Amino acid sequence: MSIDTVPTRQVDPAEATYAGELEFLARFDTGPRPPGWRLTPRAVVTFVLGSDGQELRAGTERLVVSPKFVGDRALVERCVVTLAGERGLLLVGEPGTAKSMLSELLAAAVSGTSELVVQGTAGTTEDHFRYGWNYALLLANGPSPEALVPSPVLSAMRTGAVGRVEELTRCLPEVQDALVSILSDRRIAVPELTGTPYATAPAAPGFTVIATANIRDRGVSEMSAALKRRFNVETVGPIPTLADEIALVKRRATTSVARSGAAFAVDDAVLEALVTAFRDLRNGESVEGWEVQRPSTVMSTAEAVAVATSLALAAAYFPGDRDVLSLLPGHLRGVAAKDDPADAATLLGYWDGSVRRRAEDGSRLWRQLWELRHAIS
Ligand SMILES: Nc1ncnc2c1ncn2[C@@H]1O[C@H](COP(=O)(O)OP(=O)(O)O)[C@@H](O)[C@H]1O
Ligand SMILES: [Mg+2]
Repeated sequence: MSIDTVPTRQVDPAEATYAGELEFLARFDTGPRPPGWRLTPRAVVTFVLGSDGQELRAGTERLVVSPKFVGDRALVERCVVTLAGERGLLLVGEPGTAKSMLSELLAAAVSGTSELVVQGTAGTTEDHFRYGWNYALLLANGPSPEALVPSPVLSAMRTGAVGRVEELTRCLPEVQDALVSILSDRRIAVPELTGTPYATAPAAPGFTVIATANIRDRGVSEMSAALKRRFNVETVGPIPTLADEIALVKRRATTSVARSGAAFAVDDAVLEALVTAFRDLRNGESVEGWEVQRPSTVMSTAEAVAVATSLALAAAYFPGDRDVLSLLPGHLRGVAAKDDPADAATLLGYWDGSVRRRAEDGSRLWRQLWELRHAIS
């Protein structure tokens, strides 16, 4: 890898990573677009889900659009229709189901930017949704449009873009309510600038908000009914099939490892065992239909990707040291027992049940895993 191809950012926003695809799709589908949109609704869906390996043509150019979010097409279409109607979209689900990723992809495709984002925390204030001030300018000249520092949401309103709010339910209810007035009035009042043309900041056509919330956080700050009514709520679930989840985990881990210049060298059989274990523990039932005790924590696809990446990096940086399969039980223990150390016993139960039965049924790989039981006990 030459010096000038070394990436300078750890993570690029979706609009930078997929700039070529977005430009192509804008030329490919020239149909009518909702106000303020970069792409047609159909092209947005194609961008998010990929073109199914099909080569699309725009003039002399051809392109296969890469798959990104793995999920139900109908769900993605509903999300796109919500945004086209300038309604707020709220994505809820377990952690690690790609809610943030879907929100970023949609914003990048619709507005060309996914970076107008507010991260919800217990410390988020109304100002984070509205505006603040540059205090040096404020003290020098008093309130003026130049001294006003717009929030990402206000910037989205001004430009008719999609604003994003991450982890909305972590904000206090009264702070969440600031969004209610923004989504119903479609303008932000700036009382400090009363008497000037800047006393209200109206939303340009196209403006809307995508918020995400984790189901597991719900107790933290229950969302107000008023806010829920302002949003179309869509639930994002785990990836339905084993084959799709394996393919995704392989794709994501391969991309991560490629950054180090190494090839992805984890056997498909090892990946299959890894994803199978995640799914069995998540579903409370093995692929064979045997009962499995569930750990109290989420066994998310995002973590399966992280484990596959670790295995691949170990294979790349310590080649030949030891079989990567031997690292798998330790990683599984790390994920399963992260919230509650007692869940190490839950994982042992899985080993003594499903893993053992598979070993006895003659699978070589599961026998190796069974023999590694000491790594989790
Ligand atoms: N259905 C899915 N499609 C694509 N990637 C997924 C899916 N589910 C999980 N992932 C992986 O998990 C990662 C983390 O997802 P993220 O958007 O942070 O989840 P959430 O916001 O729901 O907690 C994604 O970047 C992706 O690698
Ligand atoms: Mg998230």
